[in-house]
Amino acid sequence: MARYLVTGAAGFIGSAIAKRLITEENEVVTIDNLSTGNRSNIPEGTTFIKGDCSDPGAYEQIEKTRFDAIFHIAGQSSGEISFDDPIYDIRTNAESTLRLLKFSVRNGCSRFIFASTMSVYGQKPDHPVGENEECRPESFYGVAKLASEHYLRIYRQYGIRSTSLRLFNVYGPGQNMTNMKQGMISIFLAQMLDQQKILVKGSKDRFRDFVHVDDVVEAFVRCLKNKKSEGRSINIGTGKRTLVSEIIKILVSTQKKNIPVHYEGNTPGDVFGIYSDTSLMNEVLGSWPKTDLSDGLVRLVQSNVFSKHSHDNLNV
Ligand SMILES: NC(=O)c1ccc[n+]([C@@H]2O[C@H](COP(=O)([O-])OP(=O)(O)OC[C@H]3O[C@@H](n4cnc5c(N)ncnc54)[C@H](O)[C@@H]3O)[C@@H](O)[C@H]2O)c1
Repeated sequence: MARYLVTGAAGFIGSAIAKRLITEENEVVTIDNLSTGNRSNIPEGTTFIKGDCSDPGAYEQIEKTRFDAIFHIAGQSSGEISFDDPIYDIRTNAESTLRLLKFSVRNGCSRFIFASTMSVYGQKPDHPVGENEECRPESFYGVAKLASEHYLRIYRQYGIRSTSLRLFNVYGPGQNMTNMKQGMISIFLAQMLDQQKILVKGSKDRFRDFVHVDDVVEAFVRCLKNKKSEGRSINIGTGKRTLVSEIIKILVSTQKKNIPVHYEGNTPGDVFGIYSDTSLMNEVLGSWPKTDLSDGLVRLVQSNVFSKHSHDNLNV
């Protein structure tokens, strides 16, 4: 049995990673400030410390607890919020990473796996984006995540073996359906189920790479015993280019009722289009059967409908 620190386990991705580690009979401790997460998401059996990763006090309780690896997942993940308050963003994203790196050195925990983002790249020409391309973030959020990747690189001289996983657009069960500033698919889905209409901020021709949370969890767990992943930044996506209009089409097709869709405005720092080159991910982490987007979306609609919405409108 191993013991892991998973920051942000009250949130969407952190809770899924913690759940998988616990299912595999490991011990999990989490630090979460509950800013966007919910206590009820934290998997049973996880030791919960309510605290902020940028606050040195958050680590007091675990100074003497030995960890086999740290999964740093906590952080605010909205480009829009990073424009509303860049100082908050740098504290929650960059400063938290530094504090956690200092903790890992004190703790003697040398393995550190970080949830980075495709936002580090900024706008790129229309092609699968690889890890060696220049990073030129368009949002404060992307800048703070890129800074974290550099902190990890510098901390290698203190013996920290780190991996940054650059997540593309993650979707799946457990996404926060009330936060309208975070998660393209969860925003569209919540609008469709709650208001029977969808308002899209930006063009329908924008494109993204949508990756299911189960595949993201698999990637994190595979890193643990994978020496080749150490010292690297690795894209985690599907390599598929999907238009916003295709997502809307699949979501709307799950409903019996006609769902009006309006396109207006945009989101600051939002790139027009990006999708991943997954060669490095496949080479380093190996391949496994990935969730098909259409299946994943239909299952997501069904799970949300069955948990709290009326079934009457469902077409699937
Ligand atoms: N969801 C995506 O599509 C996506 C894509 C790329 C990268 N990421 C990254 O993955 C990570 C998890 O994203 P998510 O979608 O699960 O978001 P989420 O908001 O559901 O989860 C984040 C969790 O971290 C907690 N948190 C935030 N700041 C904290 C802090 N300073 N100290 C302690 N806890 C804090 C929140 O309360 C929440 O429980 C984030 O770092 C995000 O930047 C997510």
